[in-house]
Amino acid sequence: MTPDLWRMGYHLMPPTGWLNDPNGLCQFRGTYHFFHQWSPEWPAPHARRGWGHYSSEDLVHWEHHGMVLDQDTPDDANGAYSGGAIVVPGAAPDGGDLLRLYYTGNVKEPGDHDFVYEGRGANEILVESADGFALGPKETLLRNADYPAWCSCHVRDPKIWEEDGAYRMLLGARTRDDLGMMLVYRSDDGRAWELSGTVRSDEPMGYMWECPDRIVLDGHEYVGCCPQGVAGFAWSDGVDDHSGYFPVAGGRRVAGGDAVVAAADFTRWDHGFEFYAPQSFVDESGRTILVGWVGMPEASWIGQPEELDWIHCLTVPRELSRGEDGRIAQWPIAELEALRGEPVALGSGEATLPDHRADLVFTGIEDDFEVTLDDALEVRCDASGCGICFVNKAVACGRTSRRVDLEPASDLRILVDSSVVEVFANGGRMVFSTRWFPAAGELSVRTAGACERALAYPMADAMAGPY
Ligand code: FRU
Repeated sequence: MTPDLWRMGYHLMPPTGWLNDPNGLCQFRGTYHFFHQWSPEWPAPHARRGWGHYSSEDLVHWEHHGMVLDQDTPDDANGAYSGGAIVVPGAAPDGGDLLRLYYTGNVKEPGDHDFVYEGRGANEILVESADGFALGPKETLLRNADYPAWCSCHVRDPKIWEEDGAYRMLLGARTRDDLGMMLVYRSDDGRAWELSGTVRSDEPMGYMWECPDRIVLDGHEYVGCCPQGVAGFAWSDGVDDHSGYFPVAGGRRVAGGDAVVAAADFTRWDHGFEFYAPQSFVDESGRTILVGWVGMPEASWIGQPEELDWIHCLTVPRELSRGEDGRIAQWPIAELEALRGEPVALGSGEATLPDHRADLVFTGIEDDFEVTLDDALEVRCDASGCGICFVNKAVACGRTSRRVDLEPASDLRILVDSSVVEVFANGGRMVFSTRWFPAAGELSVRTAGACERALAYPMADAMAGPY
């Protein structure tokens, strides 16, 4: 067993160290850019944190460009934290499109502080690029003094879009009385911003909302966020930090002043063990694509063998679509199918694939149906929903079982990529992401129960080149 076995073939992972949130996702001048939170020196204590950068022409083959936004100015001295991208058509010096990246500079002031209500700077910073690679100077646009007085020092993670002829910015915030919410800003030029409203839930939901997002599908507006301090909610699996979305309903709009969303409408993106800080973007073909961090912020969530000197990865890009009931489905982008080899039919209910990478597709599921991977991870479908369950503790590193009861499960797709698994049931209406650490180089797949079609595609290693 070597740690190399757990490196991934079609998921973005850190070249070294720690990776967390996806940042600045965009397609710019044809090229996809996925930045990400990165601490290359992790697990060294107080490792610096900034933006790593992956780029791709096809969303399948990627090149890493190292640390491109470091914590190297007084306004981001303790971390170049998360943020987003916007493409401004025709605004570059060459007359082409201009890329703007907005992020939060984290500053911890010297001295003895609580760093929540005092002692922390949260600066919203802009950098521009005409080619997607060379980044211009850092310009600080908003500081703590610019946020409402009722905000704590925790304000961060800008999400930018354009609407009704103005730029809009969402910021995740913690109020001084510990309520999670969002600030909404507006700007004519992308540099001078003024507060235009807030997004709050009708009932309190956690003390902080990180990584706000705003999504429009078929004309319906949604906001996404990562509420912290929600372990008490029935849907939380006892975990404090989650990510999900709310519909913005009742004739309200985020850009239209103060918006109130219903806490009862909050829907988790993912029901697996690790999924946090997702970010969406619209690509040049008009698809809305979501990418999440397969990791969790709580320190107790390390959950991996000690010998590994890197941690976490991103999900595959997931195309979003809206169901008639307003629920958002997530489906692996079609480009990934280019990595598929010749499928093995699981006629006898059992197969072994030579590598630990696969795309498993089951359709026409009836009644109870179960897929077991490596005799370690069971994916169970039944008349009320779907779940994942580790039956081998060594492989699970602390993970147990999770499920969601939404509707009868009728189809299943499972992406396996060495130490990460993503499960999509019912066209992506029920989704699970998890890490696992199987020692085997090959993948065994066993099914129990009836389905119309069961195919196991081996997946090629798309990362073999650039690394
Ligand atoms: C979410 C988060 C963000 C922050 C970043 C720092 O995981 O806490 O709110 O910007 O990570 O790495």
